[in-house]
Amino acid sequence: MSLAARPLASVPNDLEAFWVPFTPNRAFKKAPRLIVRAKDMHYYTVDGKAVMDGSAGMWCCNAGHNRAPIVEAIQQQAAELDYPPAFQFSHPKAFELASRIAALAPGDLDHVFFCNSGSEAVDTALKVALAYHNIRGEASRARLIGRERGYHGVGFGGISVGGIVANRKMFGTMLAGVDHLPHTYNREHQAFSKGEPEWGAHLADDLDRIVALHDASTIAAVIVEPMSGSTGVLPPPKGYLERLRAICDKHGILLIFDEVITGFGRLGTAFAAERYGVIPDMITFAKGVTSGTVPMAGVIVRKGIYDAFMRGPEHVIELFHGYTYSAHPLACAAGIATLDVYRDEKLFERAGKLEGKWADAAMSLKGIPGVLDIRAIGLVAAIDLASKPDGVGKRAYDSMEKAFHEHGLLFRITGDTIALSPPLIITEDQIGEIFDKVGKVIRQVS
Ligand SMILES: Cc1ncc(COP(=O)(O)O)c(C=O)c1O
Repeated sequence: MSLAARPLASVPNDLEAFWVPFTPNRAFKKAPRLIVRAKDMHYYTVDGKAVMDGSAGMWCCNAGHNRAPIVEAIQQQAAELDYPPAFQFSHPKAFELASRIAALAPGDLDHVFFCNSGSEAVDTALKVALAYHNIRGEASRARLIGRERGYHGVGFGGISVGGIVANRKMFGTMLAGVDHLPHTYNREHQAFSKGEPEWGAHLADDLDRIVALHDASTIAAVIVEPMSGSTGVLPPPKGYLERLRAICDKHGILLIFDEVITGFGRLGTAFAAERYGVIPDMITFAKGVTSGTVPMAGVIVRKGIYDAFMRGPEHVIELFHGYTYSAHPLACAAGIATLDVYRDEKLFERAGKLEGKWADAAMSLKGIPGVLDIRAIGLVAAIDLASKPDGVGKRAYDSMEKAFHEHGLLFRITGDTIALSPPLIITEDQIGEIFDKVGKVIRQVS
């Protein structure tokens, strides 16, 4: 039976108890967007309507939805081993998945610490950076540097190094000893760029200014997303990441790439680090590692960092950190099966090959009234809409509602920006379909 033909799923008659995350609850509960099934490029609503997934869930379902090999691996694992203790004990698939991820990462990024969410991965990377300097006798390196418009999840570490104003207004003083680089977006110099904009590499030099202010001996690490995703898709200017790496090297500062979005093929390579030929000291990942099927995340660290911890009496824990569900068997089974799908179907290469077609389709929306800028890179695109006089974010919110309820398309919004990042299995025809629908929706709300 086709998915659309199946009987209606039950619809909850009380929407009150669930406090929906990062969602305007009152508006949502008036016209809920409920999804009950998914397959490949599509979601299905409670009334059986197909909705094209324009955002791979939330940047995570890179292999497409409910792929048979991944579903089967999860089912088998659930029947075989539910949970062994994550500390002092482990299970074989944790080692297998770590080796597979390390093999995908560039350079000597070859040890993996598992967590369950991007937020945990970020906190883990920041803690590893602090502990690394500490055990090497440089405990004064306690300062962390993030970037304006950075999104690193919702833990206190992540919101501190992140550069999101709403967090700064709402959640107190956060971590002490954090400074920020300027963000890299400038519409005047970069509007309607495909790929990496030409303008902006010099913004990395601000790290030298921060070092001059605080002194390198107080700085542990810099964390950036190679491409900022959640705050509106901001690709790195040409040469920016290379410059950041060079300045970090000059001052003995660790460089962390938060690849929670860019990891696992989104920009046409396993990690953005590979696309840019820049090797950070740590990479955080999540989302695509299991194609969104089971929560999983982690940090990949360079050999030198791991080795620095491997000393002292052998019965003593080297890194005082971990989560009950680090390397959960279900997540590991899902991760291994997902990496098999990526490899067998060459999905990272596919994203790279489709990049040109994708960018052309995105740019075809230039000229629609109210479209202020379009950015496209890898299989990601963002469309900035002019804000309505009655409030920032209203136009994009209306477009998301209309896309879902009236046009059978799902995408993400942030402020008045529409963000698109489909599963990497998307076809050329489906790329056309997505942008055709987005164009219609934008005209409708303009
Ligand atoms: C770059 C980046 N880091 C961290 C996170 C947080 O991940 P999670 O929501 O799994 O905690 C996200 C989520 O979108 C992200 O985009």
